[in-house]
Amino acid sequence: MQDSTSSTVVITGASSGIGLALAQAYLERGFNVVAGARTDERLAAAAKQLGNPARFLGVAGDIGQRETAQQLIDRAVQRFGHVDVLINNAGIFNAKPFIEYTEEELDQMVAMNLKGFVYASQAAAKHIVARRQGHIVNITASIALQPNQQVPAALPVLIKSGINAATRALALELAPHNIKVNAVAPGIVDTPMHAPETHGFLAGLAPAGRIAKVREITDAVLYLTSADFTTGVVLPVDGGASTGKW
Ligand SMILES: NC(=O)c1ccc[n+]([C@@H]2O[C@H](COP(=O)([O-])OP(=O)(O)OC[C@H]3O[C@@H](n4cnc5c(N)ncnc54)[C@H](OP(=O)(O)O)[C@@H]3O)[C@@H](O)[C@H]2O)c1
Repeated sequence: MQDSTSSTVVITGASSGIGLALAQAYLERGFNVVAGARTDERLAAAAKQLGNPARFLGVAGDIGQRETAQQLIDRAVQRFGHVDVLINNAGIFNAKPFIEYTEEELDQMVAMNLKGFVYASQAAAKHIVARRQGHIVNITASIALQPNQQVPAALPVLIKSGINAATRALALELAPHNIKVNAVAPGIVDTPMHAPETHGFLAGLAPAGRIAKVREITDAVLYLTSADFTTGVVLPVDGGASTGKW
């Protein structure tokens, strides 16, 4: 599916970081790209940077709201005819000591990281089941596979671990419909999520001694959406951070 010129990918959180790089990578491979983010302004800036208006559609809205997810799929179908791939990428990662998380932060993380995943996957799966072929890829986090004492982050770990588990459960449930469900679990990635002055500390969180380039994450996602007999996999892309203690 990776090189199809008529396939359509929906990417949540595609105005910056990994999502924006994914939009670029799929456009380069001939896909139509439907990008989600909160505002039209940020999506317009992404569209300008990507420079392929014929095959790019931005759909603004909060992914924690069910109607946003439905709009992403509906607008994709209206414009390009169908959806073949959903990438659940939108997510925040708020690392802090567990007892300091506020109710507001919990609500925000549940809305964006968890409800966003559920709503977008439901809307896409309903559509893709009817087509009997497609992929869902969830962007989770390597720290959910192996927590790190230097980075207290129990709430995002709770949610990302749940999505890793749901990836396997959904892979089983949707296999009879020929829908592959996989996850990529990045370590620390060079995106706007991390201020440059933190990169030195963050590099020490992987045995490889550096943080990931976005390209290394997009390569893994591209592989999974081209692999038609691979499903239920949580693929770490973390320079070895989740393989054990070092
Ligand atoms: N960077 C890392 O080190 C790292 C490590 C492990 C996992 N991850 C995961 O990778 C994914 C992407 O991270 P990133 O570093 O690329 O993040 P990023 O650069 O901060 O981008 C986040 C994207 O999500 C969008 N977004 C934020 N709130 C939203 C909402 N409520 N509704 C819809 N869209 C929303 C943002 O767009 P607007 O602001 O324009 O709305 C932006 O496009 C996340 O799931 C993250 O947990 C990242």
